Amino acid sequence: MYLSSDIPKITTHVLQEMKQRGEKIAMLTGYDYSMARILDEAGIDVILVGDSASNVMAGHKTTLPITLNEMIYHASSVVRAVHRALVVVDLPFGTYQGNSKEALQSAIRIMKESGANAVKLEGGEEILESVDRILTAGIPILGHLGLTPQSINKFGTYVVRAKEEKEAEKLRNDAKLLEEAGCFGIVLEKIPAQLAAEVTESLKIPTIGIGAGSKVDGQVLVLHDMLGINQLFSPRFLRRYHNLYDEIKTSVNTYIKDVKTVDFPNEKEQY
Ligand code: KIV
Repeated sequence: MYLSSDIPKITTHVLQEMKQRGEKIAMLTGYDYSMARILDEAGIDVILVGDSASNVMAGHKTTLPITLNEMIYHASSVVRAVHRALVVVDLPFGTYQGNSKEALQSAIRIMKESGANAVKLEGGEEILESVDRILTAGIPILGHLGLTPQSINKFGTYVVRAKEEKEAEKLRNDAKLLEEAGCFGIVLEKIPAQLAAEVTESLKIPTIGIGAGSKVDGQVLVLHDMLGINQLFSPRFLRRYHNLYDEIKTSVNTYIKDVKTVDFPNEKEQY
């Protein structure tokens, strides 16, 4: 277990150095204090307070309904637990796309009210004005290209993106624009491995892949998917490290039985 004073904090600068020396970046989503403590003590480099909280924490079908206040609630719970990892928070749908002044206000609220280290925004050229304005205020940004779940109503499906040359070319350009603007990294979601490798090679800033193959600078997964808490989602890119849904259910079944049969509490478990 780490002592907080011994722990060098991961910064965006550290991630840049990791890319330079070829060390992969490990990132997972986190939405609450207890899980974030485990992730941080285990040594995760980056915790993403993803708007996937809308799905896995709140049970919505998409990431669109989650609000800025809800993201701030999740982010501040995570920040309270973390000593080492960089904490990045998604700007939720509707808080940055249309108006760069509103985007800056949203990012400032996240940074001020949660104490997080950076924000993540989905999109390229179309959100560049918001990206510029937020960066000017000294707030680090992680970009997100490829499958961008906040645009599900535009694309209609969650299939692999940028398979066609026209979309691949736009993604290459968007990645360059985000790097030139000053983003410290880019998430590449569900795109062909070859394209992700090419983009990674062409950038100085790190890329973090999810369903983008191994030739990127780091990987991210949704915590509840990789632990097998959420079993409703099984894309090819997901490696499940546990089957917590069944394990928790078995524990709860045993607890119910113990209560009903008055096996719990026993004499040692009472005062
Ligand atoms: O919200 C999220 O969990 C994400 C990851 C899938 C990258 O954006």
